[in-house]
Amino acid sequence: MHCVQYLALLLAGLLALSHSYPLEEQAGRDDSFNATFERLQFNAYDAPSRKVAPSNIDFAFRLYHLIASQSSGKNIFFSPISISTALAMLSLGAGGDSRTQILKSLGFNLTELPLPIIHEGFRFTQRVLSLPIGEVNTYVGNALVLSQDLEPLPEFTRDTKGSYNTELLRTDFRDVEGTTQLINHYVKEKTHGMITNFVSGGLSPDIKMVLLNYIYFQGLWVKPFPFSGVVVRDFHVDENTVVKVPMMLQDQREHWYIHDKRVPCSVLRMDYRGEAVAFFILPREGKMKEVEQVLSPGMLERWNRLLQHRYFYRTVELYLPKFSISNSYALDQILPDLGFQDLFSSRANFSGITKQEKLKLSKSLHKATLEVNEIGTKAAATTRSFFSLYSAHYYNRVLMFNRPFFIVIFSTSAQTIIFLGKVFNPTAP
Ligand SMILES: *[C@@H]1O[C@H](CO)[C@@H](O)[C@H](O)[C@H]1NC(C)=O
Ligand SMILES: *[C@@H]1O[C@H](CO)[C@@H](O)[C@H](O)[C@H]1NC(C)=O
Ligand SMILES: *[C@@H]1O[C@H](CO)[C@@H](O)[C@H](O)[C@H]1NC(C)=O
Repeated sequence: MHCVQYLALLLAGLLALSHSYPLEEQAGRDDSFNATFERLQFNAYDAPSRKVAPSNIDFAFRLYHLIASQSSGKNIFFSPISISTALAMLSLGAGGDSRTQILKSLGFNLTELPLPIIHEGFRFTQRVLSLPIGEVNTYVGNALVLSQDLEPLPEFTRDTKGSYNTELLRTDFRDVEGTTQLINHYVKEKTHGMITNFVSGGLSPDIKMVLLNYIYFQGLWVKPFPFSGVVVRDFHVDENTVVKVPMMLQDQREHWYIHDKRVPCSVLRMDYRGEAVAFFILPREGKMKEVEQVLSPGMLERWNRLLQHRYFYRTVELYLPKFSISNSYALDQILPDLGFQDLFSSRANFSGITKQEKLKLSKSLHKATLEVNEIGTKAAATTRSFFSLYSAHYYNRVLMFNRPFFIVIFSTSAQTIIFLGKVFNPTAP
């Protein structure tokens, strides 16, 4: 009789919405030809990444609604693609019904989409997200942290490496402190110092394996906010709560936005210099719940389609808070309600990982951080002075994100949602 050993799934996501500084590494990356070549390949209508995209988007909203139902009145922020990628990777080591349950709960129909195509789809998705295109940098990757005395099956390491480019790290889990440092250091390095102290007190000596996924997104707005344009304004969290937030302001510029006639909200699309866009969805006063309820893949597609019409590219006075929020989720508390009933129970079958021990998935943590700030380049900073913002012009068209709103960061090349969230109170920690 084998004793039970534990494995943990740790996911880190970071979105830096508009950091100005170029990454040092970029200069050293000399794959522009192949990036162009691959980009064409990835954008093809029948690219494998497109085959997994609909299920991943659907999963993103299912997960969103579940989290929202458990945490009303809170900020929500997570990376759905990070979570589905890690679970798909985990399915490589799951046997029998466990594997089917994971893939079905991720939204895949195994009759329509055979297993190899699903894994190929995730491989492509990660690859296309990692391509240095324009000035969007996304780093996404996986690591498997294994106990020194655990021998994984060769198929498992081969397949996780092949389809998920997973790095293998070894550690002695009995040394909790040392392992914590190893993981924190690894995530910190991979995310350019942006995610620090990822696991703090999350590990225990009975863990044998940790599956790690990180995603780091850094993009520059096509239309940056001038540094000089930050003003302090009220943000109406709810009827009774008002907080002060720094608001970035762009006046007299054109943006893609609609005041929806069917759903009580306005939707703003802001493009990055690269293949990603952000949607900011602002419910009308008192209509937050109503709009939240209709958030779905179909609604996102509808907004996206509407926002292709030049008609909706108009001058607006735009106010967006400058803020940073960070959220952590214990996925082991959440995923069972999304169909992954067995995943964290002793019924889970991870015989595809190792024959040595009976593994049990003990915990899963996902942590995501969002930072929204103005851009940028020094040139942009000097284009406008503070006072010109208050010049005598008066614009009817104002879009002020001074109450709770939703945010969707969408990769147009991978056709997938990188981050999804609700900004309820930008001043909440
Ligand atoms: C570019 O990609 C092609 C096809 O994948 C590959 O054969 C070639 O070696 C790559 N070139 C470079 C410079 O990496
Ligand atoms: C676990 O999955 C493997 C591979 O599918 C299977 O051979 C084995 O019988 C399963 N174990 C249990 C306890 O169901
Ligand atoms: C999966 O796809 C097949 C073939 O298109 C379809 O017959 C079946 O109903 C689908 N299953 C589910 C659960 O949607």
